[in-house]
Amino acid sequence: MEKIIKNKAKILVVDDTPASLKLLTDIMKSEGYDVRSAISGELALNAAASNPPDLILLDIRMPEMDGFEVCSRLKSTPATEDVPVIFVTAASETGEKVHGFELGAVDYVTKPYQRDELLSRVRAHLELHQLRHHLSEMVDEQTAQLVESEKKLKKNLLDSVAVLAAIVEMRDPYTAGHQRRVAEIAVAIANIMQLTQMQIEGIHLAGVVHDIGKIQVPAEILVKPGSLSDLEYMLIKAHSQNGYDLLKTVDYPWPIAQIVLQHHERLDGSGYPQGLKGDEILLEARIITVADVVESMTSHRPYRPSLGLDAALEEIERNRGVLYDPLVVDACSRLFRENGYKLA
Ligand SMILES: [Fe+2]
Repeated sequence: MEKIIKNKAKILVVDDTPASLKLLTDIMKSEGYDVRSAISGELALNAAASNPPDLILLDIRMPEMDGFEVCSRLKSTPATEDVPVIFVTAASETGEKVHGFELGAVDYVTKPYQRDELLSRVRAHLELHQLRHHLSEMVDEQTAQLVESEKKLKKNLLDSVAVLAAIVEMRDPYTAGHQRRVAEIAVAIANIMQLTQMQIEGIHLAGVVHDIGKIQVPAEILVKPGSLSDLEYMLIKAHSQNGYDLLKTVDYPWPIAQIVLQHHERLDGSGYPQGLKGDEILLEARIITVADVVESMTSHRPYRPSLGLDAALEEIERNRGVLYDPLVVDACSRLFRENGYKLA
């Protein structure tokens, strides 16, 4: 690696004294580096900006723009902020050294310097810089791979959930698309309520499977026109608990099983299966509930035709703060009445 660095490394030498500049340049050239020289701070900044070097040897005491100023400008420019800077100066005062390090210099060489010492410091910092660069490239690469595989995992998860949803809906053609539409309405409400992206993803997923427990309800009950007996109704009501039981062992990054369990709870405690009240019900479930009511009332069912959007919105608004979360109702009303949301 040493060989490679020596042959390829670009070094910018900055000094306002022509003799010092020439000496430094010659030493670096004799070692095979690709050397450019600048006789003022201004020229150094231009040279560094147009083609960032791998290392800069920088004189401190220069007229107009001194080395400190050059260093701090280099460090505040994205293209050159990582370039190692070694100060080379006649001054050996501790205060100046400290100031140089504070500005981001990596080392300090005092004139008169030993040729070998100077070269070994340059070499060490080039190697260090190259290693750090290599390391950060590796980290970036790993991070990109992780992001990619996380994306794939998420897509697989969503695909498998969609399959589950499709299985339930296959047995119950009247509610085909119901879960997807509920998920979409719930996500739109959550967006208006400015929930986090993470919460919204969880709501989407829970919405898509919220009736998964219906897989255990006999198909003839699901598609039965007309009214249901108490027993049949009880079997249908069990779908929240059934859904929870099916999903509870899956380790989702969201409380999917709980949301599914609670999607028929009502704010005043009149819902099922647990009769939870107010904040005892997850916000995500309170959102799915409202989306579920609106979607159900606006679609055709075996036992009745669609009741229409107006009736659905009246239902949730009339029971705002009683059965349904008031903020969720407000967001839902806004969604349909002001934003003109259309059911797919
Ligand atoms: Fe349901």
